[in-house]
Amino acid sequence: MKVSQNRTKAIGVFDSGLGGLTVARAIRNQLPSEDIVFLGDIARVPYGSRSSSTVCKYAQACAKTLHEQNIKVLVVACNTVSAVALELLRKNCNYPVLGVIEPGAREGANVTPGGHIGVIATHRTVASGGYEKAIKLVDSTIKITSNPAPLLVPLAEEGWVDGEVAKLVIQRYLEPLVSVNIDTLILGCTHYPLLRHTIEEQLEKMSGRQLPVVDSALATAKELQLLLEKSGLSCQEDTKGSLTILVTDMPEKFSETAMRFLDGIILKENIIQVDI
Ligand code: DGL
Repeated sequence: MKVSQNRTKAIGVFDSGLGGLTVARAIRNQLPSEDIVFLGDIARVPYGSRSSSTVCKYAQACAKTLHEQNIKVLVVACNTVSAVALELLRKNCNYPVLGVIEPGAREGANVTPGGHIGVIATHRTVASGGYEKAIKLVDSTIKITSNPAPLLVPLAEEGWVDGEVAKLVIQRYLEPLVSVNIDTLILGCTHYPLLRHTIEEQLEKMSGRQLPVVDSALATAKELQLLLEKSGLSCQEDTKGSLTILVTDMPEKFSETAMRFLDGIILKENIIQVDI
């Protein structure tokens, strides 16, 4: 198929659940005329506490479902999948596959003032060392300290993004990072950008200074734009692109939470349940 025909195809984005909508939102803001098909595997979330082989199996099923939607590029919004299954997905796709870890790591390496980056992510992402490897590729002298922050996922899902509970949980997770004097923090999980304000507030309070906080979702949207331009796959239309959401369970519950993740830009009729 000619590149010009591929330009009009959609961008496929998937995540273990809802959190990847933060990536879909960033892509929509960065590339408003592109059509996006987002798949949230909410029947099987969370991936972050599962084994690498299970995550790979789930990731392949998600990629296959989006492949059937005739996409031109696959964005793996899930940090956990990006950490353990990206190469496998790249091997099986005949279009570009972009994960969230490499863009987030590159941005972190660019903004760190003194070369000590803290990463918060799921257990599986931290165990994989994915951020460490990606940051070291940019600059091997950068020091990285990671800490799993799994409870931030359900807090974000429930909309408990500020208030006493969120603050206490965030303090517990940041403490080991602040105590070793990190100078930059990477939000290495799809859900954490929803708590960004509270995370920044607590980080400043605990470290006594304002530190750069990197959101992998924004970094990924920017790299996606460059990737599409470079491969001649950018949509040439001026009209607003569509956003279709596929979910593997409970579309009704999903639409409520999705509104929160997408600042209310999603229509109920655009949420479709699929079996994968
Ligand atoms: N999407 C996952 C990630 O970014 C968080 C939720 C999960 O554990 O599945 O790592």
